[in-house]
Amino acid sequence: MKRDKFFITTPIYYTNGIPHIGHSYSSIIADSIARYQKITGKKVKFSTWVDENSQKAVLKAEEQGMEIMPYLDMMASKHKAVWDGLGIEYTDFIRTTEDKHHKFVREVLQTSYDNGDIYEWVYEWMYCVGCEAFKKDEDLVYLNKTTNKTFPVSKDIVISENIIKICPDHLTEPQILKEKNYFFRLSKYQTYIEDLYKKNPEFVVPNDRFNEVKAFLERWLEDFSISRETNKFWIKLPFDETQVAYVWYDALFNYLTVCKYPNNWWDDMDFWPADLHIVGKEIIRFHAIFWPAMLKSVWYELPAQILTTGFLTVNWQKISKSLGNAIDPVEFSQKYSKDLLTLYLLSSFNIGQDWDFDEKQAILTYNAKLANNLWNLVNRVVVLSLKLPAESWKLFWKVDHFLTDDNLLSIDQDLVGFLKWKPTILDYLEKFQVNINKYDLKSCLDITFSFLDKLNKFADIKQPWQMIKGDDKQDETRNVLYTLAEWLRIVWLALYPFFPVKMDMMFVKLWLLDYKERLENWEFEKLLVEFPTFFIKEKWENLFSRFDV
Ligand code: MSP
Repeated sequence: MKRDKFFITTPIYYTNGIPHIGHSYSSIIADSIARYQKITGKKVKFSTWVDENSQKAVLKAEEQGMEIMPYLDMMASKHKAVWDGLGIEYTDFIRTTEDKHHKFVREVLQTSYDNGDIYEWVYEWMYCVGCEAFKKDEDLVYLNKTTNKTFPVSKDIVISENIIKICPDHLTEPQILKEKNYFFRLSKYQTYIEDLYKKNPEFVVPNDRFNEVKAFLERWLEDFSISRETNKFWIKLPFDETQVAYVWYDALFNYLTVCKYPNNWWDDMDFWPADLHIVGKEIIRFHAIFWPAMLKSVWYELPAQILTTGFLTVNWQKISKSLGNAIDPVEFSQKYSKDLLTLYLLSSFNIGQDWDFDEKQAILTYNAKLANNLWNLVNRVVVLSLKLPAESWKLFWKVDHFLTDDNLLSIDQDLVGFLKWKPTILDYLEKFQVNINKYDLKSCLDITFSFLDKLNKFADIKQPWQMIKGDDKQDETRNVLYTLAEWLRIVWLALYPFFPVKMDMMFVKLWLLDYKERLENWEFEKLLVEFPTFFIKEKWENLFSRFDV
């Protein structure tokens, strides 16, 4: 049977620095979505890595007194170490200095040029190296150097030596460039893009971010430069080798290079078009406006959807090395746990929103949700089932075992309990699936933890720790514990894409030894409807220890 495919991408990261917690956010989102798609049976391709043909990298290499290629090699391996350190399960790594990428970009440049979509022009403008983007007045702010205050650019301001225009994101003055450049006829695609948005009301999610893109589109789209005169080692334009491709034109095509020339030897074009690009809010315009036009110009299909992320700050300040507030995601995960990072980033705020990263809050969230809500219940079930009289192993009976004569009593009690709960769990699962398919990861986690609240309440009502004391209540206790263990199993299955290592450890401890393998072989749906037998042989070490604030 041919499996459906799912192709997800992260932005490719600039190599003037090592990924910090803000960068890791996009990769953690991508990883959770990719893992979910995989366990439900889709053939998943997940691409990521580095955007190397940028001026920032050249400047950084110079600053460190290094030749550009050794510098880029070093940075590429540092980036890889971060994603491996976080256990991100990518399938494709792309470096934009790779030959295959150069070859492909030259191919598309030529096609677009032959179509008449690329033309030559001499132009003078401002360029921010930090953004690797051309700037207009409205993209900048004024800085009063005496007061160190910024304010919007306006014609009413009298310019003096003290007042300069700066990029609000990088707080640096843009360069003034006067160059011969090649331009892409973006203006030709204005109606095409407008129609695309009308036909695909969820092309960009969340909707607020889409509205910002639409507002931008309402202004007249201008053609954009796709080449630079500077720099020797970037991708040379096939029709004018004195010029190199502008970083964004080259970078966006990485998503196709990984399909055309994937890491494996076969062609992965079946994966194109991408199902989901994950991109930050500051680069949404490139992806939602430039990219569809660039693809259309060379006759490739468009990606299905773009998920836009907001910005993380630390102490309400932009994250940056120079401010000393850049948190290393691998160090942070080693200090606490990767699960703490994932849980905090995905459950505290909606994708698309900006958020101030707060270590204390991250710990509190983890303590409340994973250490208390989930682990306490798991631990109760384990500890109590070990108290049940049995041989050396404790066996929880399968639900259908309840139907034997010996256990008639428990059938009445527990099937009622079990069945009464069935709609609750079905409702939970249905909502979980709807939300994850909308990439609403916060809702997925919210409903999971509120379902766990209900399970904890169920335990509080049934009080198996009291029940177990009655000599004639062993079966009833066993069945309450089975019910709890079974619903916990469902929760672990749903949480597997977010916390794969710990969920697998718990499966193994319940003697569900082949679960990881079965999930990796896309048996999520099958596993959901199984009623396995659980064995608990011994007390477990705490898998979600609390952290002190
Ligand atoms: N190289 C381009 C992307 C090209 S994709 C064809 C780029 N690189 S970047 O390294 O500057 O940013 C990569 C991603 O990280 C962007 O989506 C950006 O929004 C995200 N983040 C960088 N800093 C961030 C935060 N402080 N918070 C959240 N995400 C942030 O842009």
